[in-house]
Amino acid sequence: MKPTLDEYIQRDPRILKVYQEARRRYAEVELFHHNFTHVMRDLHRALVIAADEGSVDYGILIPSVLLHDIGFCTPDFKKLGHDVAGKRLAVEILKDLDYGEDECKAIGHCIHAHKGKAELPGTLEARILFDADVLEKAGLVFLIWGGKIISEFRESIHDFLKREIKDRGSELERGLYTRKARELDGGRLKKVRAMFIQIQKEINAERPDYEITEDDLWQNAAP
Ligand SMILES: [Fe+2]
Ligand SMILES: [Fe+2]
Repeated sequence: MKPTLDEYIQRDPRILKVYQEARRRYAEVELFHHNFTHVMRDLHRALVIAADEGSVDYGILIPSVLLHDIGFCTPDFKKLGHDVAGKRLAVEILKDLDYGEDECKAIGHCIHAHKGKAELPGTLEARILFDADVLEKAGLVFLIWGGKIISEFRESIHDFLKREIKDRGSELERGLYTRKARELDGGRLKKVRAMFIQIQKEINAERPDYEITEDDLWQNAAP
């Protein structure tokens, strides 16, 4: 059965407030990839993964997924990273919506650890969010969505590939945390990384013309 939010909101009406606040904030910045639609896909995956696990605290999991990329809605993410900036902003939002200190701490941890960089996910809810977010990149469709990230970050293909190959590498090394996520991945994360490596080789060795910029066509700076 397709998981929906209704029953969780009936149990904890604050989830609806977080949902509406998150939707409003992501809409304000209108990012190509890290937007509310991405959050909805992660949320769906998180609920599917959670249904396969025992004793998940949905009152922690759902707000964590809703706010996990909220860091991109503040300019702070450029110097702090969106996981660190996101945790800070999320806690401010949650406090305004009557979340207690322990709840803010638990949700803050999930957001802080969702990239597995600032810290590793130490709770079941944090691990589910981590896996749900990694699965976004575990499919050939990500070769297309990668273009949205390149536009959002205004970066070169070279920089995109370098980061994605590295990040997928550490995710593969660590492995996904949950059984359902491993099943949904079905080897796709590895396949996407291998294809990125292939693209990188092609650009570096065979087809550097793909990365030609204006500066390459002048001896000195472009007039
Ligand atoms: Fe993120
Ligand atoms: Fe995300």
